[in-house]
Amino acid sequence: MTQGERRTTARRTVLGAAGATVLGASTALAAGTGAAQAADGRTAAADRAHGGGRGYRALPVPTVIAHRGASGYRPEHTLGSYRHALDLGAHVIEQDLVPTKDGHLVCRHENDITGTTDVADHPEFASRKTTKSVDGTSYTGWFTEDFTLAELKTLRAKERIPGTRQKNTLYDGRWTIPTFEEVLRWAEDEGRRRGREIWLHVETKHPTYFRSLGLGLEERLAKLLRRYGRHRANSPVFLQSFEPSSVQRLSKLVDSPGVVLLSGAASRPWDFVQAGDPRTVADLVTPEGLRWIASYAQGIGPTLDLVIPKDASGRLGDPTTLVRDAHAEGLILHPYTHRNENAFLPVDFRRGTDPTAYGDSFGALKRYLGTGIDGLFSDNPDTALLGAADLTARD
Ligand code: G3P
Ligand code: CA
Repeated sequence: MTQGERRTTARRTVLGAAGATVLGASTALAAGTGAAQAADGRTAAADRAHGGGRGYRALPVPTVIAHRGASGYRPEHTLGSYRHALDLGAHVIEQDLVPTKDGHLVCRHENDITGTTDVADHPEFASRKTTKSVDGTSYTGWFTEDFTLAELKTLRAKERIPGTRQKNTLYDGRWTIPTFEEVLRWAEDEGRRRGREIWLHVETKHPTYFRSLGLGLEERLAKLLRRYGRHRANSPVFLQSFEPSSVQRLSKLVDSPGVVLLSGAASRPWDFVQAGDPRTVADLVTPEGLRWIASYAQGIGPTLDLVIPKDASGRLGDPTTLVRDAHAEGLILHPYTHRNENAFLPVDFRRGTDPTAYGDSFGALKRYLGTGIDGLFSDNPDTALLGAADLTARD
């Protein structure tokens, strides 16, 4: 049996399980029993659909990955956002990692914490405001690598885009910045409580930049993964990075599945820039480039535009061959990022003129999921789960 045939077989098997999980969760929610109770009440079959120690090939397909938690509803990268994502039924919860000055890994999308914490309201840290170049771009603000963990823990998280997600500001100040170790402990607790594995999707942010500061991410991450038993090929965790060398480095430290993130076709990974490697993402999505990725990783995380490009007016065009080509190399695809608001949807799926209003998110999901991608990062995991259930119903 070829890799492609194995993948097809696994896909058919888990599609059924995915539908059961999705429908089970949404039915319980509709009945008003509470999302947490719905999760506790999952059947053994549904538990198995979330891996059950059998690795990523046993995950429901399409796999719904809660992007920075349920970031459409709560300030991103907080335990509140992660917990809400689980309550909504997300299959996998994403963390982005950056380090503190004293070498702890914390969950933030970027090291500049100006926009996602109340650091600007702390006069004791006013002098830490600075300008620095990260991966060739200049930023002015406050940076995690200039704070000890104890100092960072005095800050509170807040909504990144309050103008778009005003309702989420209700939760501003409620949670601290979680460390990755806290998330690992939380995942263990939630796993026991819900009776299933809690899958994580962990990204190393700016790994070359941090290594140049003596704050290498991969060894610290691998140590924590080993401590919490997530270092095996069948562990419930994906390790992702926009820098292929970070995924390669991790693959030498642990056996957990790796995913190479791919930005726009013309972009160049920062580690390539630093190493003088001339390849761009356009080179990496060729059969040759994908074969190279498959030599050390199990998947790719392309921007959705690499799966279905938009035309000049912002409308969805025809799918590329990326899904077929990646699958031919045995790679799974976890593209990013689905969001419900008009501002983030292709032009042909927007409704009305308010950029903050929800558009035809299900219409967009139908197009994207219909390409055969294996999973999807979403700020609105409940919407993505229903979109995935629609897909299953059509099969
Ligand atoms: O890691 C997948 C997706 O999250 C990549 O985009 O910028 O949100 O980390 P970003
Ligand atoms: Ca990410």
